[in-house]
Amino acid sequence: MPVKIVPSVLPADFSRLGEETAALSGAGVDRIHWDAMDGEFVPNLTFGPEVIGACRPHATCGFEAHLMCWRPEELFTRYVEAGCELLLVHPETLRQPHQAYRQIRELGARAGVALSPATPLTLVEHVLDVIDLILVMTVNPGFGGQVYLSSMEPKVAAARALIAASGRPIELEVDGGIGPDTIAAPAAAGADVFVSGSALFRYPTRREGVDDLRARALRARGEQPGG
Ligand code: DX5
Ligand code: ZN
Repeated sequence: MPVKIVPSVLPADFSRLGEETAALSGAGVDRIHWDAMDGEFVPNLTFGPEVIGACRPHATCGFEAHLMCWRPEELFTRYVEAGCELLLVHPETLRQPHQAYRQIRELGARAGVALSPATPLTLVEHVLDVIDLILVMTVNPGFGGQVYLSSMEPKVAAARALIAASGRPIELEVDGGIGPDTIAAPAAAGADVFVSGSALFRYPTRREGVDDLRARALRARGEQPGG
């Protein structure tokens, strides 16, 4: 799978979210990562489908919604209608995970399983037939700007092995504390999609950040940038 760089909008200026969305979309990102938080499953409260939908017209790239919410299945339809092509869902928040991932696909979107640091990879083993992505969180969910957890690297490698054994085209994404000094290790461990929030927003321009992070991930995989 090709390397994908996916910015989280959490560090963006929320008073100018449409413009920020357009700037990210124009910077060569592969998708934009929307962290929807309900203040219950995680201590932070951010936005829902209406805000994402309002920003949809400002971008040409895809949108993914990372649902850190209880009972997310009640809003699946609204997130897809808002323009999200991928829904990332924590299995702990679902009563019927296998059914929920199938429901996401029936709505025309792709389904991702989001694993918090303490959540075991075994929760993915019996839903491989109804998912399109595994998200290994490299911070505890709730806030941007946290320190990357290198202890998650064995989990990334194990997820890569599970995907390889399944023979299915499942993406492997990491999310949390990903920046120039941390992206190489999860890339070498097998991740192909990288969410970056605060580190990406620290570059002089969004484009420089996207290009630098992509080049670092490619080099870590022994591939040449632009090659
Ligand atoms: C944390 C979110 C992440 C976070 C990434 O709960 O799921 O997407 O916003 O931001 P950084 O890259 O700053 O850790
Ligand atoms: Zn996220």
